[in-house]
Amino acid sequence: MAGEAGRATVRSLGEVSEEPGRMAEDVRAGLLGVPKDLSPWPKYFYDAEGSEIFEEITALPEYYQTRTELSILQAKAGELIARTDSRELIELGSGSSSKTGALLNAMLEAGDAVSYVPFDVSESAVKGSAERLREEYPKMEISGFVGDFDHSLERLLDHPRKDGSGRLVIFLGGTVGNFTPERRREFLGRLRGGLESGDYLLVGLDLVKDASVLEAAYDDAAGVTARFNKNLLHVLNRKLGGEFDPDLFAHRATFNPEESRVEMWLDSKVTQEVPVKSLGLEVPFDKGEGMRTEISTKFTRESIASTFDETGLRMLDLYTDDKDLFGLALGEPA
Ligand code: SAH
Ligand code: TRP
Repeated sequence: MAGEAGRATVRSLGEVSEEPGRMAEDVRAGLLGVPKDLSPWPKYFYDAEGSEIFEEITALPEYYQTRTELSILQAKAGELIARTDSRELIELGSGSSSKTGALLNAMLEAGDAVSYVPFDVSESAVKGSAERLREEYPKMEISGFVGDFDHSLERLLDHPRKDGSGRLVIFLGGTVGNFTPERRREFLGRLRGGLESGDYLLVGLDLVKDASVLEAAYDDAAGVTARFNKNLLHVLNRKLGGEFDPDLFAHRATFNPEESRVEMWLDSKVTQEVPVKSLGLEVPFDKGEGMRTEISTKFTRESIASTFDETGLRMLDLYTDDKDLFGLALGEPA
């Protein structure tokens, strides 16, 4: 009931009016490239439908990441909160916030006056999790933000600080691996710029392992990931007047060892020209031609430490599970 539950607000960051034009520019560049490449813009996967399909992915037997990351968080939350002494938790790309409870519980055990700031481009995801957490944690202040961290990260980190204690910024789910190396450096550098001494950063990263395990995680037997990948075509159809027929494309996931990443592709099953009205384009596809839709980089302890170093962050620890499937890197401004 309203009187019993805590406070929760959800606000928008950034100019929604700029978004249609921005998307058109991004997608145009991606469709005109060789190869066709939409992977620089993972955010377009996550409309309400995409956010729901992603939740299905997180429960798949082949997709070990989510449950492994959760188990590490559950095992280490107390230690992490004692070590960082944070009272404010900011989560980038929070999605359904399904793993965050482990940290929030540890923060609440250390004292009241806790605030949680979920931030995601998916409005349905932020609203849904703010509502759920408000009921679950009546004592907590929840300030959700809907926005795009490609553009609004600075505005997010600008919001007034709680006095006294530092912030813990978390970025889970291996999402940092969905950036290209240049964009990852740029992103972490900007994030570093918003951290002060006494703040910490916790980043979830998927670790290098056998290619067959990696490929199965992105090409599950039930076909959920294929559905997620093809949902991008529905988004293009709806937002840009595209006429992509998802049945004329095949989902493919391959591990690229040179770049240490899984790449998701949609391969055209036929020779076709696809109109995309808002772009004024007829996009030609050869039979078998692929369009890259997503990359998911896999890391080693060394590559994580050097990524942190290059961006002005010091890696304090890398928490892993006993099979070294997944890592949570704790860092602070160097
Ligand atoms: N953190 C959750 C979700 C990971 S999926 C988990 O670990 O399960 C990646 C999330 O990042 C999605 O919720 C997506 O909506 C969000 N996201 C992707 N690009 C974004 C962007 N540019 N700005 C803000 N959020 C973004
Ligand atoms: N951050 C997730 C990952 O890299 C995103 C993801 C999971 C994903 N499965 C996907 C993105 C399939 C595109 C297609 O693991």
